[in-house]
Amino acid sequence: MGVDVLLGLQWGDEGKGKIVDFLAPGYNIVCRFQGGPNAGHTLKFGNIKHVLHQIPSGIFRDNIRNVIGNGVVFDPVIFKNEVEKLSEYNIDLKKKLYISKRAQLILPVHLLLDAAMEASKGKDKIGSTLRGIGPAYQDKVGRNGLRVGDILADDFEERFRRLTDRHLDLLAYLKFDADHKESEAAFFEAINFLREFQLTDTEHFINVAIGDGKRILAEGAQGSLLDIDFGSYPFVTSSSTMAAGACTGLGIAPSKIGEVFGIFKAYCTRVGSGPFPTELKDKTGEKLRKEGAEFGATTGRPRRCGWLDLPALKYAVTLNGVTQLFMMKTDVLNVFEEIKVCTHYKLNDGSMANTLTYESLNQDVEPVYLTFEGWGNLEVDKITTFELLPAQLTKYILFLESELKTPINIVSFGPDRSQTLMR
Ligand code: GDP
Ligand code: IMO
Ligand code: MG
Repeated sequence: MGVDVLLGLQWGDEGKGKIVDFLAPGYNIVCRFQGGPNAGHTLKFGNIKHVLHQIPSGIFRDNIRNVIGNGVVFDPVIFKNEVEKLSEYNIDLKKKLYISKRAQLILPVHLLLDAAMEASKGKDKIGSTLRGIGPAYQDKVGRNGLRVGDILADDFEERFRRLTDRHLDLLAYLKFDADHKESEAAFFEAINFLREFQLTDTEHFINVAIGDGKRILAEGAQGSLLDIDFGSYPFVTSSSTMAAGACTGLGIAPSKIGEVFGIFKAYCTRVGSGPFPTELKDKTGEKLRKEGAEFGATTGRPRRCGWLDLPALKYAVTLNGVTQLFMMKTDVLNVFEEIKVCTHYKLNDGSMANTLTYESLNQDVEPVYLTFEGWGNLEVDKITTFELLPAQLTKYILFLESELKTPINIVSFGPDRSQTLMR
């Protein structure tokens, strides 16, 4: 028994939060291993709808421990807000949540740097969530960062000052207006708040749990196409969003990874800049956005929409070693009479590619589509097994399974926990 990993295979927002919450009762521990408050993971059950940013999506379930791993960049101010928002649900977070002492801290100045860097890029901006993610990871690999465990040291404030002042010098040089006094006060208030939680060597906690036969689910943030190495660089996030990131982001050996669940929308979306071969800038794209309520859970920005991109999905399935696929937001396609899937890209030299390459990511490729007949409205209450799915939808699923050589074991029909069909 190992650690199962759940990953977004596209540009994020695939519905990871919903499925982690759905699967969580089958696990003892749910862990976040990378990213930070750039994530917005939406959970819905009964009349509760809640968006989580740093806290793992197992938090609403009883008897489950939740871990924020060392690979995460952690904003204490956003954490305090999240905890306050959860207060109405009577969740004992001080007992259920463990935060790695090795997780890097996002400082107020990282938010300013994020904004300054984006502003300086003009039309080439990445479209970052402006949560300070890039600058915090830069300080991590630059070996300057402050970590959660450091807040327990006597000289924390001094070290905070040194690092902050260095960055403020840079911001002054860039002539970026950096009024930070207020945000620093809020930061230190949040640091005091954080001291009351279980700050832990989570790598030991997790490995002991593995030894005890506990079931662990690692919850990815963002998606494979935003990965720092394999995504559409430079329009990516700053962490390893792939399966390998779960090992470095939690301190577990590759041999301890069990299932790799790959989650994708039945179509595609992207927020922020960067290549998107199947993007629809027309009425069909608008219809996808409207039906799918495609607006960012963290920033509220409208998401760019398009048809499913198989070459990109194949790439993500291969590089992550996906063992099971989960297809989300199937219901959004109900209103379409025809549904398209991109099977290949036509490159500038006329050649065809059926997976992502360096070249295909760096030119305007022409998507080649296969058209499927729509399935119309789904009577979700009556669909209790895969056998009861309409023939057109079954055809769509079988085609994707054969192309991706991986079974689709969950089909999701709506945002609620209950609107989930499992094989
Ligand atoms: P995450 O970042 O991967 O957790 O995904 P987000 O929460 O950012 O975005 C997914 C959005 O789709 C949320 O608003 C969910 O409530 C919603 N959602 C999830 N699954 C489904 C589904 O099967 N159908 C529909 N219509 N909405 C869904
Ligand atoms: P979840 O976990 C969708 C995108 C941003 C931007 C790029 C870099 O909810 O799926 P960053 O702030 O990380 O430096 O931004 O990555 N991005 C996301 N897009 N879902 C997310 O998270 C994202 N997190 C970052 O829009 O294009
Ligand atoms: Mg999201």
